[in-house]
Parts: sequence; structure tokens; C-alpha cells
Amino acid sequence: MSLIDDAAQVRERAYVPYSNFKVGAAIRTVSGAVHVGCNVENVAYPEGTCAEAGAIAAMVAAGELKIAEVAVIADSPVPVSPCGGCRQKLAEFGEAGVKVTLCTTDGLVFETTIGELLPGVFSTEHMARS
Ligand code: THU
Repeated sequence: MSLIDDAAQVRERAYVPYSNFKVGAAIRTVSGAVHVGCNVENVAYPEGTCAEAGAIAAMVAAGELKIAEVAVIADSPVPVSPCGGCRQKLAEFGEAGVKVTLCTTDGLVFETTIGELLPGVFSTEHMARS
């Protein structure tokens, strides 16, 4: 099964009573393991979490910290674009060159990288004097 298939499968479990917009994310780590996440909304809207954040939380909970590849899928007209916060979260655990595949459920695919998604990422270098 491809990473996109993993993302598509977990997407079905998304809890989205407010947006009705299901997103699935799958992360393959350097060990080869795959961790998945879906978006989980809340009646207090800002408390909802993105699929990417769920996959990252699952990865860290499994004791892994290095992302090798990411796939994200949604039923959108164009491949889904991770939000700014999730771009920063992905950059925490993945090198700039890590491949990110963004997909629609009807087969459109856009390939990018963590670095392309977040140029000028805030990093530990910026805190060098603290
Ligand atoms: N969402 C994600 O889970 N990932 C993305 O990349 C874009 C947006 C979710 C958040 C919210 O539950 C719904 O999509 C609509 O914004």
C-alpha cells in the first residue's frame, strides 16, 4: 500500500461535523514505519486539529522523530494545501528536502517538499543568542 493509500484510508475516520471536509495524512519515518492522522474538529472551532498534526502526534507517541515522506489527501478541487501551522510542525521533524505529496480523492497529485512549503522557516538558528 502506498503512503497515499494510507492517508486515504485514515481520512475516512476524520471527525468533521462542522466543515464536512475530511483530510487524511500519512507520514513515513526514516525507520520505514507509517503513522497516520485525520482532522478532528470541535464545537469550539479553534480547538480542532489538522490531519497532519494528528499524524505527527502519532509518530512522536510511537517514539519516532524523523520524517522521511508525507502524503496528505482531501476531497478538494485542487490538491489540499497544509495550513501554515502544520507547515511549521512538519518542519520540526523533517528536513527541507523531504517529499510531500498533496492529493485529491479523484487523483490529482502535487509533489512538493517541506522546504518549499515553508520558506524562511523559524528554526533554532533564530534563537542562537538566547
Ligand atoms: N485541514 C487539515 O486537516 N489539513 C489541511 O492541510 C488543511 C485543513 C482541516 C482543518 C479543518 O478540520 C478542515 O480541514 C477545514 O479547514
